[in-house]
Amino acid sequence: MHGASLVDCLSDQLTQLCTVVDTEPGIPLQLVTELLGPAATRPPGQPPTWPSDVADDHTPIEYSVAFNEAEPPTLRILAEAQADAPDPAAYAAAAYRFLDRQVDRFGLATSKFDLVRDVFHTEQPQGAFALWYSLVLRSGRRPELKVYFNPAVRGADAAETLVVEALRRLGLQAAYPKMVDHGLRPGELGGRDQLTFFALDLHDEPQSRVKLYLSQYDARVDDAVRAAGVVDDVDLDQVADFCVTATGGPGRYDRRPLVSSYTFTAGAEHPVGYSLYVPIRDYVDDDEQARQRVLELLTRYGLDASRLDPAIAAVARRPLRDGVGLIAHVSLRVGRPRPGITVYLSAEAHQVAPPRSKTAVRR
Ligand code: TRP
Repeated sequence: MHGASLVDCLSDQLTQLCTVVDTEPGIPLQLVTELLGPAATRPPGQPPTWPSDVADDHTPIEYSVAFNEAEPPTLRILAEAQADAPDPAAYAAAAYRFLDRQVDRFGLATSKFDLVRDVFHTEQPQGAFALWYSLVLRSGRRPELKVYFNPAVRGADAAETLVVEALRRLGLQAAYPKMVDHGLRPGELGGRDQLTFFALDLHDEPQSRVKLYLSQYDARVDDAVRAAGVVDDVDLDQVADFCVTATGGPGRYDRRPLVSSYTFTAGAEHPVGYSLYVPIRDYVDDDEQARQRVLELLTRYGLDASRLDPAIAAVARRPLRDGVGLIAHVSLRVGRPRPGITVYLSAEAHQVAPPRSKTAVRR
């Protein structure tokens, strides 16, 4: 393990990642320290008291680098605010307090958040989390925040009701039936198709987004293609090709689910963007194989791949062949606001998963 404490370890990685994307590390470091709260000083490697679902080893931070067609790459940090007590209500309270502190500091726009917060707020949160944040760090701009609600926070059976109500409050209800009728596998909502995240941008620019995420368990390429087909002008062959290349072949993806997201912007009745997230770590032997696939995808889609290796090097503390899961997901973004590919990098602050070829389980 590296660094004397969790915050040292993460600060080191984050500072290097900021260099890779030409952004100032000062404010991101402050925000991460604040999110870590009481967990900041824990030794990395010590099992965390709260098993955060942000990353496989329960580090409450995950990095991602978004490679864009028309602009430089963006660094993002997915995070769960840490609380003193390992208790869902305490974690939800810590998350809401974090947001309260950032509103004035960054001039966040909370009008959408305020419209839906009570839909997802409960004294006894259920499921893997109540509220997560993503910090979006673009060169030369102040950080933007995005918030993720858990549709299953009142139980998985209530997820659809919560999502429908939240969309209604945001004036986006028209888009939902098309997604259910054409995007999902018939009869699978709440079964192998699950609504997993409901996300909002906390800024008020015209491209400010609402995003709905769908996880498809036991899916095939055609299921992702059908999910993507709900959005106009998506190149479905590209979605299929991305999925096959990232996973290493067509088939039934019976490990972590394929995830689809739909992007809505104000006034639009239909989603304007679609993304497919492939949990690549489940479909490779080790991170070197994952890196090669991601490199191939970036090159194939005409994106500047030159910062992939520096980004990986900023986070990795071991040879890529010695573990799996550093490259956790890879996603394809199509349509608005920005087409491109995003690579999700696990901090591995607590633990490294051994490469699959060295474990007993083989696909
Ligand atoms: N760790 C969780 C998972 O893999 C949640 C998550 C983190 C996630 N980053 C993600 C899900 C990116 C989809 C895409 O499911």
